Amino acid sequence: MTRLALLPVGVLLAAMLLPAGAALAATPQQTYTTQCGACHMAYPPTLLPARSWKAIVANLRHHFGEDASLGRRDTAAISTYLADNAADGPLGNRRFLMGVSPDVTPMRITDMPFWRVIHVRLLRPGIGTGPGIRKAAACNLCHNVSGNGEGGEGGESGG
Ligand code: HEC
Ligand code: HEC
Repeated sequence: MTRLALLPVGVLLAAMLLPAGAALAATPQQTYTTQCGACHMAYPPTLLPARSWKAIVANLRHHFGEDASLGRRDTAAISTYLADNAADGPLGNRRFLMGVSPDVTPMRITDMPFWRVIHVRLLRPGIGTGPGIRKAAACNLCHNVSGNGEGGEGGESGG
């Protein structure tokens, strides 16, 4: 971040003009963060099992009432990135799979038992309803979450 800020504008422009697939092409993680962070935060991949991410990415045209479809190259990069970092992937954290039956494919983090147990008090006032991105799904309203981490500190840091 700080390094990037120091780069002269010309270097940045040159990087942006390079053809896709060149040395400075976006990493799968950057592709994920940009594309899947356009409408809501880019959720940490470790919060869902690989089968959930696979099902979500396979049906982006009908994504919770939105068309979130992407080109083939971005879709493939995101798919691999999510599978590698999923809760049950090689780099994931299986503790988030608590209480999830292997034959169930959750389509929401907010449907995951771990999430509902932790946030039971928040569900009571009907936080799950409202226009646009539901408040419950906007983890970053209450957490400092990076694209790769878990939920940050609880609390009301606001936005
Ligand atoms: C065009 C806007 C848009 C884009 C782009 C988008 N989403 Fe979504 N996404 C939504 C909306 C709307 C919801 C429903 C949120 C709500 O409950 O209000 C949602 C919900 C989700 C949820 C469930 C959140 C929860 O736990 O309730 C996941 C997971 C998700 N998106 C993943 C992705 C992934 C992965 C990508 C990139 C491939 C992506 N989204 C790109 C609009 C988008
Ligand atoms: C309205 C505020 C709010 C929203 C929205 C919210 N959380 Fe939380 N979250 C909390 C609070 C408060 C706690 C601490 C709960 C407690 O200790 O009783 C917490 C705790 C957690 C924890 C366990 C503590 C930790 O830091 O490891 C995780 C993980 C977590 N949240 C993830 C998420 C994710 C992922 C989302 C979005 C899908 C989300 N939260 C949305 C308020 C929120």
